[in-house]
Amino acid sequence: MSKTMQSTLSPDVKQRMFAASLAARSQAHAPYSQFAVGAAVLDEHGNIHSGCNIENAAYPQGWCAETTALGAMVMAGAKRALAVLISGPGPDVITPCGGCRQKLREFGDEKLLVIAADPGGIRQSWSLGQLLPASFGPDHLKNQA
Ligand code: THU
Repeated sequence: MSKTMQSTLSPDVKQRMFAASLAARSQAHAPYSQFAVGAAVLDEHGNIHSGCNIENAAYPQGWCAETTALGAMVMAGAKRALAVLISGPGPDVITPCGGCRQKLREFGDEKLLVIAADPGGIRQSWSLGQLLPASFGPDHLKNQA
């Protein structure tokens, strides 16, 4: 899969990511917030990895759908994320939390496409650079003086 796909995902890929995010959302473990979220990450090989939010009775120990999806991507052997599609309940458009923006940065650059959706469809998209400007990433560790 070429890097240009980051900004120009085909309708078919977007549709498959959307379907994967909704399927993941149906697995959400969100008994405390009742706010079910599903995420689908597209890797550099064109494969899609999905995950849901998983909450915990000790509230701070829960984590987001994006984190589960990134874990699935890494476990499948991929190291580069080109895009993530996140489905929340609607009607408000949701964006990844600050911690997940940084986790996405580990596996993608400023061009990584972040797409927000709800069960009715895709709503809005941004680049990771828009959501996490002037970010710190793995490249900084490689470029020490
Ligand atoms: N949540 C996600 O999984 N992803 C987001 O992008 C926003 C928030 C989850 C965390 C928590 O389980 C619930 O939604 C309410 O914040």
